[in-house]
Amino acid sequence: MARVPQVIVVDPDRESAGEVQKMLNMLGLSVIASTGYGVEAFTLAFQLKPDIVLMRIEEPLVRPVQTLGRLTDGLPDLPVIVYSTEANIRLMRQSMVSGASDYLQEPLSEEEVESSIMRVLERKEREAMRRRGELEDPVPQGTIITIFGAKGGIGKTTIASNLAVALATEAHQTVALVDMDTRFGDVAITMDIPVERSIADLARNLDSVDRNTLRDYLVRHESGVYILPAPTRPSDWRNLHAQHIRDVVDVLAQTHDFVILDTPGTFNEIVAAAIEVGTMILLITTLDMASIKDTVLALEMLHERFGNDEERVKVVLNRAGMDTGVREKDVERTLDSPLWRRIPQDNEVVKSAQLGRPIVMSKPNSKVSSEIRDVARALAGVRNRANGHKAGGGGFGKLLRPLFRKSA
Ligand SMILES: Nc1ncnc2c1ncn2[C@@H]1O[C@H](COP(=O)(O)OP(=O)(O)OP(=O)(O)O)[C@@H](O)[C@H]1O
Ligand SMILES: [Mg+2]
Repeated sequence: MARVPQVIVVDPDRESAGEVQKMLNMLGLSVIASTGYGVEAFTLAFQLKPDIVLMRIEEPLVRPVQTLGRLTDGLPDLPVIVYSTEANIRLMRQSMVSGASDYLQEPLSEEEVESSIMRVLERKEREAMRRRGELEDPVPQGTIITIFGAKGGIGKTTIASNLAVALATEAHQTVALVDMDTRFGDVAITMDIPVERSIADLARNLDSVDRNTLRDYLVRHESGVYILPAPTRPSDWRNLHAQHIRDVVDVLAQTHDFVILDTPGTFNEIVAAAIEVGTMILLITTLDMASIKDTVLALEMLHERFGNDEERVKVVLNRAGMDTGVREKDVERTLDSPLWRRIPQDNEVVKSAQLGRPIVMSKPNSKVSSEIRDVARALAGVRNRANGHKAGGGGFGKLLRPLFRKSA
C-alpha cells in the first residue's frame, strides 16, 4: 500500500483514545477521526472510508458489540482491530463472532499495534488481489520444521529423525525428512536406509518432477517417513544454492503435512535458506557451556537476520539431566529465552543410532521417546487421546448435509 493508511479510532474514553491516537501518529499512520460507539462511529466510517478501525471493547458488551457488528456487517471490507483491558475468552469470542480482525490486550505496545495493523492490511490486500484474479491458485502448504543448532554433535539429527517418525506414527501426518547436512549427512545411517538418489539429484531435475515422480527421489522408511538423503559425496553440494533449497522444500511442502530439515553444525548459504523457509525453527542446545555460548550467538544471529519471532524460534534442550554443573534456569537466563522442550539424556539413544533404528521405535517406552512423541503431538495440534474430543455426528452436521446434497 503506497499511501499512509488512514485510521478511525472508536473509543468512548477520551484519554485512552488520545493515547491510541498518539501512538498511531508515532507509527506514521494517519488518524482521520476519533469517536465513541454508536451512530457516529458508523456514519464516520461510512463517509470517510478509512483503511482500518481500531476500537475499544469493554464490559458491558452491548454497545461495543453492537457497534462492531454494524461496522463489519455494513462495511465488510473494513477491518476492525479491537483492544481491551480484558483478556477473557468470552470477550475475545464475542469480538470474533462480530467480525473483528484482531484482538489486542492493553497496555498496547507500539510493536504489537504496528504488526497487527500490517498483518490485517496485508490480508485485506491479498483478499482483494485474489478477488481480482491477480494471485495464482493457492497450493497446499505443509509445515516446515528446521532443526538448527550452533554446534556439531548436540543431537540435531537424532531429534530430526525421531521427530519425523513420531509425527508419522503418533500424529498420523505425512512427513518428509530432508538431510541438509552439507558435511556428513548421516540421516541415512541413523535411519538405516539406502541412498540411491539425493537432494542434489532432485534439485537438478526439479523442472521435470511432478507429484508422482517426486516419490522416486524419496526413500520410504518403515515408519512411513519419506526421506530425502544428503549426497554421499559432500562435493555434490557445491552446485546447490539457496534457490535450489527453496524450490525443493516448496515442492515437498506441497505434498507432505510436515517437512523436517536436518542441518549441519555450521552456518552457510544452505542453512540460511533452510532457516528462511522454516515455518518453525527448533534451536537445539545442550547443557555444556560451549553449546550455550554458541546458542546465544545463534539466537542473536537469528534475530538480526530473520527478525525476532518467539513463536517461530523455539529452543529445545537436548540431553537434559546431563551432569555438567550447569542448571537449566541458568541456561534460560543466559539465553534470555525459555526452554520450549527438554529431551532427556539417555544412553539408549546412542545404541539406537548405532542400530539404525530411531529410539521412538526401538524403545518406545523410554522417557526420550515419550517426550519426542509429545513434541510431535504439540506440533501437529493432536491431543493426547485421553483428553481428546469425541467425534460427534452432531445436529449441525445433520442440518447442513441436505443443503450440500442439493447444491452438489
Ligand atoms: N538425548 C540424548 N541422550 C544421549 N545421547 C544422545 C542424545 N541425543 C543425541 N545423542 C547422541 O549424541 C551424538 C550426536 O548426536 P547427533 O548426531 O544427533 O548430533 P548432531 O547435532 O546431528 O551432530 P552433527 O552436527 O555432527 O550432525 C550421537 O551419538 C547421538 O546418539
Ligand atoms: Mg547431524
